Amino acid sequence: MIEEGTRVILWKKDDSTLIEVDGETKKISGIGVVDTERFIGKEWGSVVELGREEYRLFRPAIRDAPEFFERDAQVILPRVAVKIALYCDISNGKKVVEGGAGSGMLSTVLLNEVGPEGQVITYELRKDFIKTAEANLERLDLTDRWRAIHGDVTEDVKEEKVDAFVVDIPEAWEAVKMAKETLKNGGFFAAYIPSTNQLKKTVKEMRKHDFTDIKSFESLEREMVVREKGVRPSFDMLGHTGYVAVGRKTPSSEEKTS
Ligand SMILES: C[S@@+](CC[C@H](N)C(=O)[O-])C[C@H]1O[C@@H](n2cnc3c(N)ncnc32)[C@H](O)[C@@H]1O
Repeated sequence: MIEEGTRVILWKKDDSTLIEVDGETKKISGIGVVDTERFIGKEWGSVVELGREEYRLFRPAIRDAPEFFERDAQVILPRVAVKIALYCDISNGKKVVEGGAGSGMLSTVLLNEVGPEGQVITYELRKDFIKTAEANLERLDLTDRWRAIHGDVTEDVKEEKVDAFVVDIPEAWEAVKMAKETLKNGGFFAAYIPSTNQLKKTVKEMRKHDFTDIKSFESLEREMVVREKGVRPSFDMLGHTGYVAVGRKTPSSEEKTS
């Protein structure tokens, strides 16, 4: 049941809008004037008619976030972000350092994975991006376990013995040394990287700093259109997003022999 004060997605195929059900009347771009009082007491998933269109009332889900997040920078798609979290073994209670808040999409997935007992500390060079990311995270009630630091993830990180160090910055290789200093032994470093030459540069730097079990991959998704007449892949596949490099920190040579 939808209660006053809840955030709701007005969902129509390929078109989601997030609104707060506060009992007020609002003007919503693309939809028009909406009296949110009429949603109070309705069941999740029920249909409302707005203008001449029908919308479903859904609880905001992370998979829909790219549709309702304010965007200042290119975001990582949630389906790629969850793979980064999986490959870094990020789960309840883990402590993660992130580089590059951008619009907060990757932070959202990491915050969801670490749960209420975990923490994500995000370093970001631009104050305006921190603000955008924070506003987006508030929409999903995830700021309680988040700390944003205005600083350079390649130089300014003060945390120690963290479980994972994840970056989405243009010069990912520059963060490897800092990651090595910040991670616990066995902890994971992951970078999201737009091009293959940057991927190679990052992996070389990871090898130089004794990261091992290094994997590099790209994560594509081919949606299927399922109809009575036939089943086929969608024509609208996104052919390229980015590459991920991930590896585990091992003790440096001096530590290994002592
Ligand atoms: C592509 S965006 C990140 C997008 C974000 N992962 C998301 O999904 O919304 C890259 C961000 O990294 C920030 N950045 C670049 N170099 C950085 C550094 N050395 N330390 C911290 N942040 C950095 C940029 O200001 C920008 O906000």
